[in-house]
Amino acid sequence: MAALKLNRLHLHLTDAAGWRLEIKKYPRLTDYAAWRPQATWSEWNNSGAHYVEKGSFGAFGGYLTQDDAREIVDYAALHHITVVPEIELPSHSNEVTAAYPHLSCTGNPDGEPDVCIGNDSTFAFFENVLDEVFSIFPSHYIHIGGDEASKKAWKSCPRCRARMDSLGLENVDQLQSYMIHRIERFVNSRGRDIIGWDEIMEGGLAPNATVMSWRGTDGGIRAARAGHRVVMTPGSHCYFDQYQDAPPTQPKAIGGYLPLKAVYSYNPVPDSIAGWATPFIDGVQANLWCEYIPTSEHAEYMLYPRAIALAEVAWTPQQRRDWSDFRRRVVRADAWLVRNGFNTFNLADETGPRRESLTPERHLARGAKVTYNNKWWSRYTAAGVATLTDGLRGDWNYTDGRWQGFTTRGDYVVDVTIDLAKSMPIKYIGAEFMQITGPGVWFPSSVKISVSADGKIYRELKQISTPAADSEGLSFRTYEWNGTSQARYIRFQSTPTHGVQFLDEIVVR
Ligand code: ACM
Ligand code: ZN
Repeated sequence: MAALKLNRLHLHLTDAAGWRLEIKKYPRLTDYAAWRPQATWSEWNNSGAHYVEKGSFGAFGGYLTQDDAREIVDYAALHHITVVPEIELPSHSNEVTAAYPHLSCTGNPDGEPDVCIGNDSTFAFFENVLDEVFSIFPSHYIHIGGDEASKKAWKSCPRCRARMDSLGLENVDQLQSYMIHRIERFVNSRGRDIIGWDEIMEGGLAPNATVMSWRGTDGGIRAARAGHRVVMTPGSHCYFDQYQDAPPTQPKAIGGYLPLKAVYSYNPVPDSIAGWATPFIDGVQANLWCEYIPTSEHAEYMLYPRAIALAEVAWTPQQRRDWSDFRRRVVRADAWLVRNGFNTFNLADETGPRRESLTPERHLARGAKVTYNNKWWSRYTAAGVATLTDGLRGDWNYTDGRWQGFTTRGDYVVDVTIDLAKSMPIKYIGAEFMQITGPGVWFPSSVKISVSADGKIYRELKQISTPAADSEGLSFRTYEWNGTSQARYIRFQSTPTHGVQFLDEIVVR
């Protein structure tokens, strides 16, 4: 890190899968909620996400003692690196509510993601935890999480309702904001400042908070506009848990596709905001979430060489950045890492983008008008009405602007009609879907392809069912009809499975 001038190490110490820091006042956090019966995150998550007692047979997990953490802090300081600790609240707190069930709204002994904000013991708990954290980590900035609260239990919890009534709060966003503000006052009273994920802005941003913008960059830009300090870490460019090369060639990852070139292309302060925003944007960060990264060798593989690109994004002015020059230099930097014992991804092995995405595809429906009997999901609009007939095939990532997302409405998920403008002979109709079940992207259970001469009376050409889902990894499947027909209109419909469906193009020949 020091060689790359990366000067902050953010340790995400708590997050459902295990509490990773000794807290002397609350030993159950590490005697129990740091251990699980399954070695991998997927197995654990798929088995109901339970913890087990430390030392029980097969218990997998662990944590840093306070001495371990101090050793890391001291070693980092020798290299001019500040360790920023994160204690998640009010959500991603399953360890807290499993170890101390009275701190959740329901008291469920298996734990709940969100803590109860109506209970003053919750605040006493986090204040005591943070006091121990302050004694270990000298960092001025202390990360308090804030992301992805479901806020569900708060709505029906009598204590949370009473808190909202007594403070005149109108919604649970404001309740979350109340907690963040109250924790901020506590952290400030100890002479430190908070950092949080961009959700800390919902319901009103705490006055002295720094925002880590992860759900894109809008949150960061809004925070900067309000005079707050910002660290940019958008999922589109900074999530190193995503695949760095063609997924079929890589160890299983959470999904996504973030090759070196995409990291290098990130500009944290685009020209449109540079004039006023530059003083507020403190830096960039990459995140290496480890759900699918069981060993430190694997972590190195995911970090390098992408961290080298991050360093240059952070330190080299945009006008001096040059991909082909960097691409030459990064090979030498990578060789240096390898000589020093690191396990890096070898760029010489890079496969690159999905072959289909490289050249536009000519076919009979290209440019044809598409009517959406079910509209696409607004979060994955892609190119809107043009998407399915623009000839452009998607890359490895459903966020690339070429894959269009659909959710279930009625009996169907995808339900579109293509108008070829005139009747013509056809011999092929097909579309490819993507599946990656971790983030909830599924193949359809079936696809129905029908044709019509007049747009009113349809004849079914084929119904294609999907065999039972077999893998969590990224996969692709083409649903197609081959034959001889004549038609002007084509209706393409898919039926639900579990989640969202993505396709990039409906090809007609
Ligand atoms: C995050 O990725 N949930 C901050
Ligand atoms: Zn509650």
